[in-house]
Amino acid sequence: MSARIIKENVYSVGAIDWDERHFHGYTYVTKRGVTYNSYLIMDEKITLIDTVRDGFQKEWLGNIKAVTDPSKIEVVIINHIEPDHSGGFPEIVKLCPNAQFYGTEKARAGLLKYYGVQAKNWTSVKSGASVNIGKRTLDFIDAAMLHWPDNMFTYSAYDKILFSNDGFGQHYATDKVFDDEVDYAAFMDELQKYYANILWPFSQVLAAKLAAIAKLNLQIELIAPSHGLVLRKYIPEVMEKYLFWSKNSTVNKIAVVFETMWKSTEAMAKKIVEGIASEGVDAVLFDVTKTDRTDIAAYMLDAKGFIFGSSTHDGEMLPVIAGFLHFLKGSKAKNRKAFAFGSYGWSGEAVQDIQDTVGNIAEFGEPVKVVFASTQEELDKCFQAGKEFAKKIKAT
Ligand code: FEO
Repeated sequence: MSARIIKENVYSVGAIDWDERHFHGYTYVTKRGVTYNSYLIMDEKITLIDTVRDGFQKEWLGNIKAVTDPSKIEVVIINHIEPDHSGGFPEIVKLCPNAQFYGTEKARAGLLKYYGVQAKNWTSVKSGASVNIGKRTLDFIDAAMLHWPDNMFTYSAYDKILFSNDGFGQHYATDKVFDDEVDYAAFMDELQKYYANILWPFSQVLAAKLAAIAKLNLQIELIAPSHGLVLRKYIPEVMEKYLFWSKNSTVNKIAVVFETMWKSTEAMAKKIVEGIASEGVDAVLFDVTKTDRTDIAAYMLDAKGFIFGSSTHDGEMLPVIAGFLHFLKGSKAKNRKAFAFGSYGWSGEAVQDIQDTVGNIAEFGEPVKVVFASTQEELDKCFQAGKEFAKKIKAT
């Protein structure tokens, strides 16, 4: 790719990772790939915002070279040190030894630990600090825990651009630049999946940060994250979603997530969903061994009801749902209702195991347990459990 203009004299110069399918180790399935966005501002002092993941420096530097000689960069801003954004840090330090670097103090220390490299001219900044680069003054806004303690945003009042790094990102590899250049539903799907899998645990911080930013009365025409598309058309829609999700607000829908050994727990799950449907409440049934956990989490982000099922195996829930629930409990979800169900042979610990694992993210009602396979009467009980749960979801 080449550099792409997002505003006069502001270029997107990052890299596109079309093939990435397991991002962040093995925690996030990125079915549409990933981008590592970096931005170049051509002002009196040429300024670079963020770098790219290791392995993508060639594409990134090629994009910068399409605009200017990289060694002419005088200001480098590091909004976040996670390796998907800081992989090019050692290279830019080498290429621009006299550049002035800006980031939080935690960013400085983290970069040194990651790379053993320190920029000669580094200024640690906090909210309220800024740097003048010519026509523009760039303001720094603390964004700790969005997504790591070192994060910050950078705002250009001249351009009315908020450079938000992980905030407002989406994992969406595309040669397009702006939100309105791709399919809206696909864009919003990736936005929701990203929030669920990256930012959900930090919702409380995010809600406070959104409120603080609102008080600053920033004029924002573009939000330029370091993953995915630049927000141009859909800023109001995205802000509305972020406000909703950050408050752990929910809609009347239910996720039924299960793992089964001999299809007895699966039969229970299907009856529970029938019971929910009889009340006109939306539910989606997820066999956790078949649907990727990051897609399930995306659905659950705004679901008021969580129902988890597992057969009992060696005195515990089954291993795939166990992994999923350990992953999910990190979401710190709030305001959810739940119950557990499952079949068992002789002791039936799975339902308690489920409640013990994710009791922190939902209020659990009575579990439903069945020995071996369900009788018709027991299937009716599952139907009724789903129906009563759906009524509770509608009532609260
Ligand atoms: Fe995209 Fe927290 O890194």
